[in-house]
Amino acid sequence: MPRAGLEKKIIKDARGVRRTYWVRKGLPQLKRLTQAKEKARVDDHEAREEHLEAGTVSNIRTTGVISMNTTKRGVVTHEGKAVEALIKTGQRADALNREVMSSKVLHLFGVESSPTVIRTVGGRIALVQEWKLNTLPSDHDDVDPRKVDRHILEKMRVFDVVAANPDRHGGNLLLRKEGDKFIPLPIDHEMAFSAHPTTRQYLAQPVGLTQWHEGPLLPETKKMIAAIRPEVLAKTLHKAGGNEDQIYLALTRLAIVKKRPDDLAQGDMETVSGFKQRLADLCRAGAPESILTPAEILEARNLSQDPEGPNPRKKPLWLARISPPSPTPPPAPPPPPRGNTLNPNKPVKKGGRPSTLKRKL
Ligand SMILES: Nc1ncnc2c1ncn2[C@@H]1O[C@H](COP(=O)(O)OP(=O)(O)O)[C@@H](O)[C@H]1O
Ligand SMILES: [Mg+2]
Repeated sequence: MPRAGLEKKIIKDARGVRRTYWVRKGLPQLKRLTQAKEKARVDDHEAREEHLEAGTVSNIRTTGVISMNTTKRGVVTHEGKAVEALIKTGQRADALNREVMSSKVLHLFGVESSPTVIRTVGGRIALVQEWKLNTLPSDHDDVDPRKVDRHILEKMRVFDVVAANPDRHGGNLLLRKEGDKFIPLPIDHEMAFSAHPTTRQYLAQPVGLTQWHEGPLLPETKKMIAAIRPEVLAKTLHKAGGNEDQIYLALTRLAIVKKRPDDLAQGDMETVSGFKQRLADLCRAGAPESILTPAEILEARNLSQDPEGPNPRKKPLWLARISPPSPTPPPAPPPPPRGNTLNPNKPVKKGGRPSTLKRKL
């Protein structure tokens, strides 16, 4: 008997027995379409990164906004196309790298981010990032908080916790007006993805915008959290140049967020400091043992290992300290050699003369 919305499929199973399945109509096509759309989205982001990497930089000028760093604007031209860009110099390479990691992870989480690369500009190492045109800082008077896209803000909050980003004040969130809505565009991630567990009491958040967001997280945000695959996050961070400590901590925070998605909700009647502290608590991955199982910690550890083999320059400082105890005790160290340690073959003189060094003293 036909069923509504379903179609009959007869498929042979592994033993060659014909079996009847009822599948939802049109599902394979829909899945293929979504996959194609996702691929196009990723390809486009990578193409825009390539543009910034390969293009010629000209028209370097001040941004006109107050900045902590040497932040300039310029134009990057490649294959006849010109793109406005932010050019940051005078920062540590480590801070620039965190910006690259953040741009890629935001994109992975489905939040619009500016393609970002590290390259030289005029002989100096610089961060080059697509400049977002026609934006307002989120704390601007012309912004109506109720018109800011709540789902994007929640996805950005997932990012801020996974990246332990302490610096999401109103100025580090731009908004672009689209029709009646404001689209959030997060910027400035030089403090995200620290290689050390965060010790901050509060995690900065644009609470002026989120105070309207009562109740639990939106169902689509919960779905988004459940769909993030740790191995994909690890790969993205490895590709962006993250070190093992940074990746291990991000993965433990992701595992914690997956276990406690409801802690990310602003909640009803919550005080602002309570909300920010709850987010900081989620980030405090220095002691993940209290929330994660040894198996979950081990998974984060394994995925954080550099796929290209151990790299002595990327020293995993925290990894050793917080690794779970090994099930078998390590073999006992060999007994210390007796007698002359420099030449163990030399016979030990019993009651012999003290060493030359001692005699000199
Ligand atoms: N990608 C961007 N698109 C548009 N404006 C940007 C972008 N990045 C930064 N800005 C502007 O430049 C200012 C300073 O940049 P930011 O990255 O926040 O550096 P700082 O560390 O000095 O705060 C921002 O507040 C914003 O107004
Ligand atoms: Mg800033």
